[in-house]
Amino acid sequence: MRIDILTLFPEMFCGVFGTSMLGRAQANGLLDIRTHNIRDYADNKHRKTDDYPFGGGAGMVMMPQPIFDCMEAVQGGETAHRILLTPRGRLLTPERAKELAAFDRLILLCGHYEGVDERVNTIIDEELSIGDYVLTGGELPAMVLVDCVARFVPGVLGSEQSAEDESHSDGLLEYPQYTRPANFRGMEVPEILQNGHHANILKWRHEQALLKTKQMRPVLLGRFGKKTE
Ligand code: ADE
Repeated sequence: MRIDILTLFPEMFCGVFGTSMLGRAQANGLLDIRTHNIRDYADNKHRKTDDYPFGGGAGMVMMPQPIFDCMEAVQGGETAHRILLTPRGRLLTPERAKELAAFDRLILLCGHYEGVDERVNTIIDEELSIGDYVLTGGELPAMVLVDCVARFVPGVLGSEQSAEDESHSDGLLEYPQYTRPANFRGMEVPEILQNGHHANILKWRHEQALLKTKQMRPVLLGRFGKKTE
């Protein structure tokens, strides 16, 4: 899968995707992540990319021209799913991340300042937000999206199952995990995990996941139609 990121701050991405799982996925050719500086496409002398909003108001708005030119150059006439990261977008969910992982090409546009000229939406397929809070720009959200989507690209994670097993994929938060030693500073790993049968362990994990979700995110239980008992 190829992912192009259009940003005014490409330096923010330096090294971010080069290590760990995503670094390996890129080395293996599963992912190809590239950043592009929108400013390089500004057709004015001062390489200006923003201007005052028509109608007045605080802050600056990103101008359409550098974004259109950057998008056209990067897309190069090929098909790609184009996403604008903005706090007013639809919330990114694991279900949507999984669907996005099926595209061959994604182009992510990082918004900035007070927003992006509305006409940019004519070259955008989807607006996404990573949560109901406002960040200074779309760069960190783009990183979150890339990481979240990449986990669903076959082969990116060590085992195909892990993306499905973890918190949220079945609508529940993840059950508690333990590793050696069995006793650490007097804190014991639950007996059932040390000696239990596979079926008992599965049952315990499910109960723990339900309990954790009830405590921390009860809304998830309703959303995924889970029984609380
Ligand atoms: N840009 C600023 N805040 C954002 C958010 N919460 N999600 C996506 N893009 C953003």
